[in-house]
Amino acid sequence: MINEVEHIPVLLEEVINALSLTKDEVYVDATFGLGGYTKAILSKQNCKVVAIDRDPQAKVYADNLKRTFKDRFYFKSGKFSELDKLLNELKIYKVGGVVFDLGVSSPQLDLKDRGFSFKLDGTLDMRMSLKGPTAEEFLDEVQEATLADIIYELGEEVFSKRIAKKIVYQRSIKKIKTTGQLAKIVRDAIPKKKSKIDLATKTFQAIRMYLNDEIKELEKGLIAAEKVLRPEGRLVVVSFHSIEDRIVKNFFQKCFQTKSLSRYLPELPKKNPSLEILTRKPILPSAKEINFNKRSRSAKLRIAKRTHSSSTFGEIV
Ligand SMILES: C[S@@+](CC[C@H](N)C(=O)[O-])C[C@H]1O[C@@H](n2cnc3c(N)ncnc32)[C@H](O)[C@@H]1O
Repeated sequence: MINEVEHIPVLLEEVINALSLTKDEVYVDATFGLGGYTKAILSKQNCKVVAIDRDPQAKVYADNLKRTFKDRFYFKSGKFSELDKLLNELKIYKVGGVVFDLGVSSPQLDLKDRGFSFKLDGTLDMRMSLKGPTAEEFLDEVQEATLADIIYELGEEVFSKRIAKKIVYQRSIKKIKTTGQLAKIVRDAIPKKKSKIDLATKTFQAIRMYLNDEIKELEKGLIAAEKVLRPEGRLVVVSFHSIEDRIVKNFFQKCFQTKSLSRYLPELPKKNPSLEILTRKPILPSAKEINFNKRSRSAKLRIAKRTHSSSTFGEIV
C-alpha cells in the first residue's frame, strides 16, 4: 500500500536553512516525493510552495498536504525539466528558491512492482512516470554494445561488458521479467569479491537513469531553475552519486565563471555571474544522520544564490 510507505527526508535541516525562507515568497520543490521538504518549508515559514513530481503516485501525498496547507500549496504533475512552463501555467514567473532532491523515493524503492529495487523480486518496470518503455521491454531489445556503454557510463561499472554479454545470453534462453532475475544475472556476471555494496547496484542505477533520462532532466532542470530564480533566490540540490554531483558542480561553475574567465580570456564578452556559489565543497550528512537513515550516506548538498545579473541562459519573456 502506498500510504504505508515512509520516506525520511535527507539533510532536511540543512536544506531548509539553505533556502533562507521569507514570508509570502514562493518556493519550488522540484522533486516532491512524499513531500518531506514541502511540509517542512510550509511549517517553518508563512510562504507558498509549488511542488512538482513526474510520478503519478506522488499525487496521493500531495492531496493530503493540500488539505492542511490549502492555497499555500500547489502540486503540478510533470517533469522538472519543464519547471518554468509548469510555473507559468500558474502565472508564477519568479520564485525565491528551488530545491531538487534527486533519485528515487522510498515508495518507488520499497514497492516491489515499481521495479527499482534489486533487493526485492518484482516486475521489471523502473519508470518514474509510468510512461514509455519498461526495463523489461528495454532489456528485451537493446543491443549488447549499447547496453555495455550505458552500464559503464551511467553506472560507472567496470564489468559492464561482461554484464551486458550475460544479459543478452540469458534473455535468449528465458525472457528477463523480474528484478530478482536481473539482479542474479548481474551478480553472476561479476567476479566474486568483497564489496560494501550489492554487486547489482551500479547496473540497476544505470538502467534506471537511462530509462528515465535522468542526466538530461537534471541539466534542463538546473537551467530552468536558474531562469526562474529572482535575485538572492536559492538553488539547492541534493544528489546521491558522483555523476549527478559533477553535473551540479559544473553547472554552478558555468553560471559563476563568466566574469572570472574573462580575466584570462579578455576577448570573451564580459558577463557578470548569474549564480554565486555558497558551497565550495558539498555539505555531507553527519554520522548521526547516516546512522539514523542509511539512504543519506551518499548524499551531497550544493547551494548557490542567484545574483542581480541577467540569466546565463536568457531571461523568460
Ligand atoms: C528522492 S525523492 C524526493 C523525496 C522528497 N524530498 C521527500 O522528502 O519526500 C525524488 C522524487 O523526485 C521525482 N523525480 C525524479 N526525477 C524527476 C523529474 N525529472 N521530474 C519530476 N520529478 C522527478 C521522483 O519521482 C521522486 O518522487
